Amino acid sequence: MSIRFDGKVAIVTGAGGGLGRSHALELARRGAKVVVNDLGGSRDGSGGSSAAAEAVVAEIKAAGGEAIANGSSVTDDAGVALMVQQTMDAWGRIDILVNNAGILRDKSFSKMTVEDMQIVLDVHLVGTMKATKAVWEIMKAQNYGRIMVTSSTSGLYGNFGQSNYGAAKLGVVGFINTLKIEGQKNNIRCNALAPVAFTRMTSDILPPESEQLLTPESVSQGVVVLVSEDAPTGTILLAGAGVFSTAQMMESEGMLLGREGMTAEQVVENWGKISDMSKATPYFMGGEQVDKVLKMATGKW
Ligand code: NAI
Repeated sequence: MSIRFDGKVAIVTGAGGGLGRSHALELARRGAKVVVNDLGGSRDGSGGSSAAAEAVVAEIKAAGGEAIANGSSVTDDAGVALMVQQTMDAWGRIDILVNNAGILRDKSFSKMTVEDMQIVLDVHLVGTMKATKAVWEIMKAQNYGRIMVTSSTSGLYGNFGQSNYGAAKLGVVGFINTLKIEGQKNNIRCNALAPVAFTRMTSDILPPESEQLLTPESVSQGVVVLVSEDAPTGTILLAGAGVFSTAQMMESEGMLLGREGMTAEQVVENWGKISDMSKATPYFMGGEQVDKVLKMATGKW
């Protein structure tokens, strides 16, 4: 089996360096026509130039692939519209959107300013929503779309100094939790990647000796799967150093304590059973959980 993207058009945001560059190169190597988007700013989101995106386009072309550069910020409505217009003008369709662009403003919550929160949410969460919004109707009309968002263990599990980033990174998971449902009838599949790689973003956070292990290239093989024809939907794939796993939100079976006269003390007394994850279940959508609650409460439903 070989996964190919011949005839497919992909947009990769933040693809001027790090993981995005690697994703763009790999999709192009497997036959996709690629739009390399990158604002070309610094790690904290300041500055910008399209030189980074153009350099990756040159690399793709040198390897025999097809690519165009776009220097828009994913936070800029006109810039996102231009990115999509350029793609449609060049190739007439958009099959894949890899939302990868990102910045950091790490600080403990005490020291974090509202601006540090706003800008990180803007790039990761709102930027992902804006780019996705701009391709959504095109994908619906095509009856085909593969959308990836980039999450992080900082969002899934937490990390000191990253309350802004963590909120944004779990936010994108919440975003695709709904899009996976709304996209179903038009063959649009939506997945999240939680990568770990040695890049500009992490080079002073990760141990230097991990650089040889935590290659962006190994993560990009997971991206290939998440945006392929046979991709799953609603999956969170963790990838780093060649190690792959999936993460899922699960809910314990729980128990019915009753309503009339039921007290908080009973919740405490039964905490062991309430929080027992041995029979935990994942749900595809929120309504399934409501059904479970009503079934347990009535014994039927
Ligand atoms: P990086 O800093 O090397 O690359 C991020 C790219 O996004 C840069 O080229 C930057 O210019 C671009 N960018 C930033 N703001 C943009 C905007 N508004 N519009 C367009 N492009 C913009 O970082 P890295 O490590 O490659 O990160 C890629 C993604 O993976 C990010 O979403 C990051 O949060 C995520 N991630 C990375 C991890 C890692 O271990 N490297 C861990 C977990 C998540």
